[in-house]
Amino acid sequence: MLHIKSNSFNRIGLVPTMGSLHEGHLGLIIKAIKQNDIVIVTIFINPTQFDDKLDFIKYPKNIDEDLKKIRGFNSNILVYSPNVEDLYNNKIISKKFDFNNLDKIMEGKYRKSHFNGVATIVYKLLSVFKPTNAYFGEKDYQQLIIIKALVLQKKIKTKIISCKTIRNKNGLALSSRNLLLTNKETNLAPIIYKTLKKVKSFKNKMSQNEILVYVKKIFHDQNEFKLEYFKILNEKKLTSVDNLKKEKKLRAFIAVRLGKIRLIDNIKF
Ligand code: PAJ
Repeated sequence: MLHIKSNSFNRIGLVPTMGSLHEGHLGLIIKAIKQNDIVIVTIFINPTQFDDKLDFIKYPKNIDEDLKKIRGFNSNILVYSPNVEDLYNNKIISKKFDFNNLDKIMEGKYRKSHFNGVATIVYKLLSVFKPTNAYFGEKDYQQLIIIKALVLQKKIKTKIISCKTIRNKNGLALSSRNLLLTNKETNLAPIIYKTLKKVKSFKNKMSQNEILVYVKKIFHDQNEFKLEYFKILNEKKLTSVDNLKKEKKLRAFIAVRLGKIRLIDNIKF
């Protein structure tokens, strides 16, 4: 495994990804280039964060295209694309972390071992590369909060930099999994973001429960969708809130199944 002495470059920016790079990932890389002397992009489909084996097998792989996109930047970028044995030897299991309730709700509830897997791999990458800054997208907001908690818990010096969600022209949050949608599903998927924006306009008019009923109905009326969760939470602690009008730092989170594909999104509320 490659080891970098943190004093070889003044500022090292790390962008962990699972590849099939799209504009969302590229946004992270652009920010990293601006803020560091060298950028390390990791491309690794991490087996321990998939609780569904089929999801892991089906996960899109496009390493040649990825490298082409990275070369396009013409900057100091090092790509690290290990195989599973490099990072896990023969023991493909995750470490157990305790993030209080942060990893028990939403994604953690529907994908039981997911955040232990994410934290295991991100902890490994941060320990090896010792970056000055590491970049994560708001698209996976719960992941971002958990990684901030990980860094505090393990007293890691890296600064965690968050990056806004990049969407296509119809509002659909870019995701490598979008490649797995059928054409029909791709046309239906923008309703996820449209619904989030719509309910945001209800903030001062409806209770949380009324909003939930509204969201449930939208997805109930669309046969192709199955709503997994919709939640409005405090955006720092991911705790529930009593009164939407009183609380300032809110975020709305949604997860749906569209056909065979699971999609998540969130907006500041
Ligand atoms: P992956 O899904 O490839 O995403 C890599 C990074 O890109 C994450 O920080 C994610 O939040 C960000 N990202 C993805 N889509 C985005 C979008 N539309 N706008 C902005 N940022 C976006 O997340 C993972 O990989 C893995 O869990 C990982 C952190 C690499 C650990 O294995």
